[in-house]
Amino acid sequence: MLSALVRTYYDKVTPAVSGDSGGLRGIRPDAGVRPAGIMTGMPETRQAYLHGHHDSVLRSHRWRTAENSAGYLLPFLTPAADVLDVGCGPGTITTGLAGHVPSGRVIGIDAAAEAVDGARAEAARQNRPNISFQVGDIYRLGFADASFDVVHAHQVLQHLADPAAALAEMRRVCRPGGVVAARDGDYGGFLWYPGDPELAEWRALYQRVARATGGEPDAGRRMLAWARSAGFTDVRASASVWLFATADERYWWGGLWAQRLTESGFADHAVGHGLATRADLQRLAGAWHRWASSDDGWFLIPHGEILCRA
Ligand SMILES: C[S@@+](CC[C@H](N)C(=O)[O-])C[C@H]1O[C@@H](n2cnc3c(N)ncnc32)[C@H](O)[C@@H]1O
Repeated sequence: MLSALVRTYYDKVTPAVSGDSGGLRGIRPDAGVRPAGIMTGMPETRQAYLHGHHDSVLRSHRWRTAENSAGYLLPFLTPAADVLDVGCGPGTITTGLAGHVPSGRVIGIDAAAEAVDGARAEAARQNRPNISFQVGDIYRLGFADASFDVVHAHQVLQHLADPAAALAEMRRVCRPGGVVAARDGDYGGFLWYPGDPELAEWRALYQRVARATGGEPDAGRRMLAWARSAGFTDVRASASVWLFATADERYWWGGLWAQRLTESGFADHAVGHGLATRADLQRLAGAWHRWASSDDGWFLIPHGEILCRA
């Protein structure tokens, strides 16, 4: 599967967006947003996570690694860095990050206790001693100001009603000079072949359901704007893609979307908001099976990335 993965790192493809040198300047801005978090120690989630944690969802999250999902961040990890991974899900990226900071520590947090349980099991399976997990809310992180060198979130901001407030809270717990990093896909930018009107219908439905639950599915293109809105002035924007184009990748990606459409939290939200019937979802699942069984099947997923100097 990794053979088909295409990554375009910021320094090869995407120009930096701030600073004459094109790099993060390492200057903590004097003026910025006020810390949004309140140290309550009591996690609080404002929204239900659109997909839920059905196996069809976790199967896609578990495929993710630090290398295939956080490559833009890896050059900025020093061996002794303290890292917070917010919205860690099943923790495969988190445990990978721990391998890049062998003398540092990594904490993963997620609003869902079941995700945290799975992440703990993953860390134990990989025998990572420098990692721990907690239930927590991105809007109210249970850590003192300036606790981490790196604060990271992968595919989380797109699900939030207020991504700028989340980024501001990530900044609060990041040490001055540290890095707040985030990466999110952009559904409006997905490309696929062969064309199929029912896959176009799936995307339009997905966008409607995501917005009905308070998220923004076309997140990748907005990452820079959200960072600036959070008060960051030293931001490097980059982009990278996932590509699914082998028979195994099609079977995995098409199969999990067919199942998400009919069995996951997404299905319940789509029906609950009156945006689709169960029969519609079955029909759209059929489009995914058709795509997956085509030897010509090709699917590209673009992501926006931001590295923000705290
Ligand atoms: C798409 S998953 C990404 C998981 C992981 N970062 C990855 O890429 O594999 C989004 C995760 O964010 C979590 N989440 C959603 N809202 C959150 C919040 N307010 N605070 C903390 N985590 C949240 C969800 O429970 C879910 O596990």
